Formats: sequence, structure tokens, C-alpha cells
Amino acid sequence: MAETTTTKETEVVGVVGGGQMGSGIAQVAAVSGFDVWLHDTDPAALDRAVRAVSSSIGRFVSKGKLSRAAGSDAMKRLRCTSNLEDLRDADVIIEAIVESEEVKKTLFSKLDKIAKATTILASNTSSISITRLASGTSRPSQVIGMHFMNPPPLMKLIEIVRGADTSDEVFLKIKDLSERMGKIVVCSQDYPGFIVNRILMPMINEAFHTLYTGVATKEDIDTAMKLGTNHPMGPLELADLIGLDVCLNIMKVLYEGFGDSKYSPCPLLVQYVDAGRLGRKRGIGVYSYE
Ligand code: CAA
Ligand code: NAD
Repeated sequence: MAETTTTKETEVVGVVGGGQMGSGIAQVAAVSGFDVWLHDTDPAALDRAVRAVSSSIGRFVSKGKLSRAAGSDAMKRLRCTSNLEDLRDADVIIEAIVESEEVKKTLFSKLDKIAKATTILASNTSSISITRLASGTSRPSQVIGMHFMNPPPLMKLIEIVRGADTSDEVFLKIKDLSERMGKIVVCSQDYPGFIVNRILMPMINEAFHTLYTGVATKEDIDTAMKLGTNHPMGPLELADLIGLDVCLNIMKVLYEGFGDSKYSPCPLLVQYVDAGRLGRKRGIGVYSYE
């Protein structure tokens, strides 16, 4: 096993994927005092990420939750690149690209070659096996799930997922890093959907079935769950926030992983994704945001 750094030596954080999660994770890391390299293959995604981080930091500053100087320092600590090799000096690299095992595995194998021997490779995957992502690297003991919730700057939880070979030392370092980012940690074994999405996604899928079978309107389904169970958002609104493509990919992982028809994705969810109705990020999902 390669040697790992002590957490106190974790000063440079690499984030791969500058979408809604990657940009939010980069923001949390920069505000927490880390130097951050944010990489995306799509330069337009990096432009959107910088705008999103700047606007979110601006909201914290205007509410007095962050000083103007701290916000400006965080922006200076955030560097964007479309060259993955710029992440070579990162102590921890957090992957937040598309929820596809094949695409993530290819990335992990590239990161394994680029990163220092001591670097920890973390995945923000919502559901995919950390053990299988680790298996394509030469450092399975240094691969771990670090699952932030959406939106990362506001949500307190990080779900840490240990793969079959993740070392105790790496687990403790990621726990400590999460706490340095102001988060509260729970630990899950490496089974499909971990804790949060094992429970949340079947509820969202059931909300789609409730709509699909004409039990109620989308508005009534969301109002029922908001006012009836005190959820901050209804399940269909939340699906639009998460991204319907992400929800569908998670349901597929649950369905394939457990082989149980109760996890079969609702045909309406599948149809919306086929139609490109991916949620807020596309301006249309269950609801329209235009
Ligand atoms: N940056 C900074 N501040 C922000 C912000 C952002 N990106 N978004 C919202 N805010 C601030 C607002 O300014 C506002 O601040 P004040 O309360 O001080 O006025 C506050 O957050 C609330 O914002 P809004 O009024 O716009 O919206 P809201 O009250 O609905 O809160 C929310 C937003 C925190 C997202 C809330 O709706 C919520 O908790 N929703 C549920 C989110 C959730 O369940 N996330 C987990 C999804 S599952 C997951 O992530 C795992 C997975 O793998 C899919
Ligand atoms: P997103 O679609 O908003 O962003 C993904 C980004 O990754 C895009 O900018 C894309 O250009 C980039 N990308 C794709 N392949 C790449 C590659 N090979 N190298 C570099 N960049 C690449 O997706 P998201 O919602 O931010 O989700 C990202 C990850 O986080 C997924 O694994 C998802 O399951 C997980 N996650 C999502 C949520 C959520 O609510 N959306 C919550 C927790 C975890």
C-alpha cells in the first residue's frame, strides 16, 4: 500500500466535474481554506461553475454568514482547468462526474496514473460501488466514497462509503477532512445507494408512479409530502433539483444491484429522461423553469 499524507497535510483538493455537485464541493473546499483545482472536460461547464460559486458566495456574504474578505479569498483559492494533469499535486481528489460506472472507472484509472502516490481518490457517486471503482486503480486502500448532498454549500451531511479495501487510515483522514469542511459524517458499507439514496430514491420513484397512475397532480403530490411530512421540498421538485438523469441512473444501480422489481424505474421517469426533461439544469423536468 502506498503511504498516505496526514490530514493536516491535506491542503490541495482537486475536484473533477464542474456541474452542480462539483462546483458546490469546490466552493465548500475553497471556503474551508483549501487550495482547489476544479477540472471539467467542458470549458463552458467551468465558466458556469465559477458563476455559480461566485453567486452562492455572494448570497452568504449578503446574509452576513461569510465576510466579504473570506469570500474573496475563497474565490482566489479556486482555480479551474480543462487539463486533468493540473491535479497532480492534489492531496485529495474528489470525483463528481456523470453517474456512470464505466465513465468513472476510466477516470479513476487515469487519476491513478496522474496523482501522487499518497493522494486519496474519493468519489461523490450517489450509488455506484466504491469497491469496483477502486479495482481499476493500483491503490484500492486509498479509494473511498465521499458523498455530499445537494446543494453542497447548504447541506450538512457527508456520507462516507468504505470500499472492501479502504484502509482505516484513509477513512479517518476523509472523516477529518469532512469535519474541517464543517460537515457531519455518517458511514455506510458499500452496497447500492448506500444509506441516503437506498431510502430516498424509491420514495422519489414512487412519487413518479403516483403521478403516472393518475392518483394526484404533481402539485398535490409535492404539497402532500411538504405539508404532510414536513419535507422541505416535495419529491418531484427534489427530483428536478437532483436531475432526472441522476435519479434514473441511481434507480438502475439499485435495480441491477439488488435484482428486486421494487426498484424498477417508473416508466414516466424513463420517458422524461428520454425527452431531455432532466430538471432544473435543463429548464424543464417535472416542472418548467423557463
Ligand atoms: N448558496 C448560498 N445560499 C443559498 C443557496 C446557494 N446555492 N441556495 C439557497 N441559499 C440560501 C438562501 O439564500 C436562503 O437563505 P436564508 O434562509 O438565510 O434566507 C436559504 O438558502 C433558503 O433558500 P431558498 O428560500 O431559496 O430555498 P429553500 O428554503 O427551499 O432552501 C434548500 C433550499 C436548502 C435546498 C431546501 O429546499 C432543502 O433542504 N431542500 C431539500 C434538499 C435535499 O433534500 N437535498 C438532498 C438531495 S439527495 C442528494 O443530494 C443525494 C444524491 O445523491 C441525489
Ligand atoms: P452534472 O451533470 O451537473 O455535472 C457533471 C459534470 O461532469 C459536467 O459538467 C460534465 O461536463 C462533467 N464531466 C462528465 N464527464 C467528465 C469527465 N470524464 N471528466 C471531467 N468532467 C466530466 O452532474 P451532478 O448532478 O453534479 O452529479 C455529479 C455526480 O455527483 C454524480 O455521480 C451524481 O450521482 C453525484 N451526486 C449528485 C447529486 C445531485 O443531487 N445531483 C447529489 C449527490 C451526488
